[in-house]
Amino acid sequence: MTGPDFDTRAFRNALGLFPTGITVITTLGPDEKPEGLTANSFGAVSLEPALVHWCLGKKAPSMPVFQACTHFAINVLKEDQRDISNKFATPAVDKFEGVDWRRGLGGSPIIASSLAVFECRHTMSYEGGDHLIFIGGVEEFTHVQGAPLLFSAGAYGVARPHPDDYHPDPDAIGFHDLML
Ligand SMILES: Cc1cc2nc3c(=O)[nH]c(=O)nc-3n(C[C@H](O)[C@H](O)[C@H](O)COP(=O)(O)O)c2cc1C
Repeated sequence: MTGPDFDTRAFRNALGLFPTGITVITTLGPDEKPEGLTANSFGAVSLEPALVHWCLGKKAPSMPVFQACTHFAINVLKEDQRDISNKFATPAVDKFEGVDWRRGLGGSPIIASSLAVFECRHTMSYEGGDHLIFIGGVEEFTHVQGAPLLFSAGAYGVARPHPDDYHPDPDAIGFHDLML
């Protein structure tokens, strides 16, 4: 749907009512320069084979590097990594300055203390309007205990169990710290 009657801002606000986690998606540029951006468009695609997706705005400065990369890493942020999210959502010469990271598959930066990391081969990318949809084939993944940083209606949030729900295994849903 397009045209003069289509309210893009209202559309964006409506989309924002679907809460998400937050990731920092990273890769290594051809000049060995680490690249990364905050993205909440990450999602699961397939279990067998293990595939995930995310979307990158076509005007993003990091677009040429991601289009050319063989690998990227998806760092799922913990609730105490709000500053990392803000940092990687702001264009900068070196977003990695002061950030603790190591090289993963294909050199893609793995950010220390991430809740989960999916190290992916850049398998495919598809046209998606003003974004490009990247499909990653997951080659390695790790996850640790903790709670995720959330994004909902344009603001950061933290997860808490529904008061009416009974969780026999809080670890399984990432609420462990909050349940203690
Ligand atoms: C919570 C949040 C989620 C975001 N999700 C995306 C996303 O999924 N795709 C995208 O292209 N930009 C997203 N952005 C914007 C980018 O992080 C931002 O434009 C960044 O500067 C792009 O990196 P670059 O300038 O190095 O290309 C998001 C920003 C925030 C704060």
